[in-house]
Amino acid sequence: SPDGMERLKRAAAREAVDRYVESGMVVGLGTGTTASWAVRRIGERLLEGSLSGVRGVPTSEYTAALARECGVPLVSLSERRPELTIDGADEIAPDLSVIKGRGGALLREKIVAAASRRGVVIVADGSKQVSLLGNGPLPVEVEPFGWEATAEALAALGCEPELRRVKTQPFVTDGGHYTLDCRFPGIPDPPGLACKIKRVPGALECGLFVGLARAAVIARPEGVEVLEA
Ligand code: A5P
Repeated sequence: SPDGMERLKRAAAREAVDRYVESGMVVGLGTGTTASWAVRRIGERLLEGSLSGVRGVPTSEYTAALARECGVPLVSLSERRPELTIDGADEIAPDLSVIKGRGGALLREKIVAAASRRGVVIVADGSKQVSLLGNGPLPVEVEPFGWEATAEALAALGCEPELRRVKTQPFVTDGGHYTLDCRFPGIPDPPGLACKIKRVPGALECGLFVGLARAAVIARPEGVEVLEA
């Protein structure tokens, strides 16, 4: 049920905050429904006083607004590097390589993740685990200029790219870019594909996060499991 799903997301986020976040830490704040629960948990613990001096580096305007509402002080990536980032994922492989970006914030998420000393702690419910990445589309954030040409170059890598839209208009990221949702028949070599995408002019970043997740906190109805890389 949708309610049950929300409870699992909250349980994963809560466990991740309680296990990994310490007083005084700078923490990258991810984007999406699951990561939002981590922001709320940090706010709750700052309010009750069981954590102090934690500051968040937001990965989106949405998360920045949520953090302000929850009483989590913010600091920009220009000023501080996070110790770790807590963020959700769309698909999680057994080696903790993940697909992110279906929530529309992947470029900033990847910049913050890569700048985090101890990488990313992924929070998710069990439905996100897969044996092979590529069940759903791989989001690629692209420059709007000539995006059709960028889409063609991506298609040549073996996928079907589709421009993400909100109703009829292109969806625009916080950075002012478009997103191409690219359907691959499966992604057996995530680092290889990430490199090929990176070489396409106009493709800014793809949703493959390889070697960035140090742990995944996965909630299922039977309980919460922590996988460490
Ligand atoms: C945002 O750009 C995404 O990377 C999200 O972190 C991802 O889509 C997971 O979102 P949910 O927690 O809402 O499923």
